[in-house]
Amino acid sequence: MADYKYECVKVKVADGIAWACLNRPEKRNAMSPTLHYEMDDALARLEVDDDVRVLVVTGEGGNFSAGQDLQKFFRELEKNPAERKKAAAAANRWRWERLYGYDKPTIAMVHGYCVGGAFMQLLACDFAIAAENATFCLSEINWGILPGALVSKAVADMVLPRHALYYACLGEPFDGAEAARIGMINYAVPGAQLETATIELAHKLMQKSPAVLRATKQAIRHVRTMDVPQAYDYLAEKGKAIKVGDREDSYNTGLRQFLDEKSYRPTFQSFRLGGTSSAARAKPAAKK
Ligand code: ACO
Repeated sequence: MADYKYECVKVKVADGIAWACLNRPEKRNAMSPTLHYEMDDALARLEVDDDVRVLVVTGEGGNFSAGQDLQKFFRELEKNPAERKKAAAAANRWRWERLYGYDKPTIAMVHGYCVGGAFMQLLACDFAIAAENATFCLSEINWGILPGALVSKAVADMVLPRHALYYACLGEPFDGAEAARIGMINYAVPGAQLETATIELAHKLMQKSPAVLRATKQAIRHVRTMDVPQAYDYLAEKGKAIKVGDREDSYNTGLRQFLDEKSYRPTFQSFRLGGTSSAARAKPAAKK
């Protein structure tokens, strides 16, 4: 198993799940330049780690993240534009480009505070689960700044305009239940069940064909900005590409199990490929 050692990030890999944890609990996981460089490195490595099937992004010490570090990322870099540019590039790369297009399914697990710039990784992940008593806040308006990088766009794309305008313009905090109501996360659970609920979702995702899951999440993301003819064309080609890239031949196996063997109902079950159980499928793919 690969060794992931960092100062501001903690990585655990167990049972196919990688837990990438922001690790500055004494600063409520505020994001410093070092943290950004380390997360950028960790996510790049975890994406190609054969022991990893699902990525969870979260924070140590009971908080997701208090946003950008106002001292280390803002004040200290004001007089060092070259370092500021480098740190901002790493910050945006891991919080958006890497997570948005990640080859593996990603889950944001939110507890405690999720503030300001932390909405980038929250909204770039494919799924998000929060503790009911988590505290979300687009606090930028209260600092005299905009929800910058891509936060304003990510929020505006994720929730209805009324909710985006309300929370960005007022900077009011809201809890996990409200985050679920407005579509910012998938669901909220009592804090004591947060980790279990996250593992349950990860296990459900591990029962799907990795190639088909990857293509499906890319399709859902990319068709949003296409017109109808483009979407028809893209989805037709993507569908062909899946059949080439799907090592498990999910389509033909599913047809056989449903039509010939009568052993499979796609509405309710994942496939049992090649007669193996879904639990067996949940194991990480063998190393090449
Ligand atoms: N940047 C730098 N340091 C921070 C940040 C931050 N974003 N958030 C917390 N800290 C530090 C505090 O300064 C404090 O440091 P100290 O112990 O050296 O004094 C430590 O973390 C603990 O913070 P407290 O305020 O004591 O913790 P508490 O649990 O009472 O409150 C809370 C947590 C609500 C998150 C509060 O710290 C806060 O409001 N932080 C600012 C959050 C914010 O607005 N972030 C957005 C920044 S702008 C952006 O991301 C684009």
